[in-house]
Amino acid sequence: MGLIQIFCLELSLILTGAVLHATEIRQTGWTGKLLVIPMDGSHWTGLKAVSEDLGRRGHEVMVVMPEVSMRLGPGKHYTTKTFAVPYSQDLLDNMTRRHGEILKMSKVSFIKRINMFLENMKDILYIFTSTSESLLFDPELLAFLREQNFDALLTDPAFPLGAILAHNLSLPAVYMLRGMPCGLDTKATGCPDPVSYIPRFFTRYTDRMSFGQRVVNLLVSMLEPLMCKLLYGSLDDIASRLMHRDTTVLDILKGGALWLMRYDFMLEFPKPLMPNMVLIGGINCAVKNPLPKVSLSAAVGSGKFTKYRALAMKPMMDHFKINYLHLHVLPI
Ligand SMILES: *[C@@H]1O[C@H](CO)[C@@H](O)[C@H](O)[C@H]1NC(C)=O
Ligand SMILES: *[C@@H]1O[C@H](CO)[C@@H](O)[C@H](O)[C@H]1NC(C)=O
Repeated sequence: MGLIQIFCLELSLILTGAVLHATEIRQTGWTGKLLVIPMDGSHWTGLKAVSEDLGRRGHEVMVVMPEVSMRLGPGKHYTTKTFAVPYSQDLLDNMTRRHGEILKMSKVSFIKRINMFLENMKDILYIFTSTSESLLFDPELLAFLREQNFDALLTDPAFPLGAILAHNLSLPAVYMLRGMPCGLDTKATGCPDPVSYIPRFFTRYTDRMSFGQRVVNLLVSMLEPLMCKLLYGSLDDIASRLMHRDTTVLDILKGGALWLMRYDFMLEFPKPLMPNMVLIGGINCAVKNPLPKVSLSAAVGSGKFTKYRALAMKPMMDHFKINYLHLHVLPI
């Protein structure tokens, strides 16, 4: 067994432990009812693995999903409930095709990348908004979910519909994520996030920045509130309408009970974590197949973190057949 496999094995054990502690409340044989609000695309891969496994262990797991999606679907050990949305499969297919085209253009400038990011956001935003409205403003569906008396809600907060729903149903929210655009997770958890040391999205800097890079990093960090507004502004409005008072996605996220972070400090820069944050990087190894040959040593030797990440991640992504649509759209 290679080093990578041992590492993955160890992490998956930690993950299983983390999930169990969160749900079994130490009583052996205790089973609960879990509501899962997934995010489409690659984000679903990890949530699906956890939903299946908790269902297999005897918990009642219900995944609520839009009737049209890229890769959401039924599983062996969980039940599903679908709801109608105003967009068609055609829209999603077009998006997938366009993102594939964008990914083929490798060396693009910083400005162009931002530009593409914003363009893609338009589609994503429409889907975010209309999916959220379809669920949250369907009184019958809300009443049905309330009657189920779930014990907790598991969701990927990059699409904060689940977080808003958990708040409305007064359920403890368990977030599972790789990170959030515009650093919203850092703000919501209250973790220190100094711009001198933590590189921002798009910059491709490492934790060792020159003075010039730090200045650019500072400027980029000043754009974050704008990006948050663009991304989640419409969901701020939806949440405010639902609750009949002014609120924001950030405020709602702050109430999260548990943050399961889909990384570890091999991949991410070491940083302080809050006590309700658990590193579960091993989940990415839940699908056990032999890895393709990856020249990790050469990549690490180059000393460039981003290079390492790109080299190390791409074959793995291909391998697990994760479409990395969202990896680029929401670079997390
Ligand atoms: C998808 O793309 C096709 C071909 O470019 C176009 O005819 C169609 O209107 C698009 N559908 C949507 C919903 O955007
Ligand atoms: C939950 O949603 C209902 C609308 O279905 C709304 O009347 C209620 O105020 C919301 N409650 C909270 C706490 O957001």
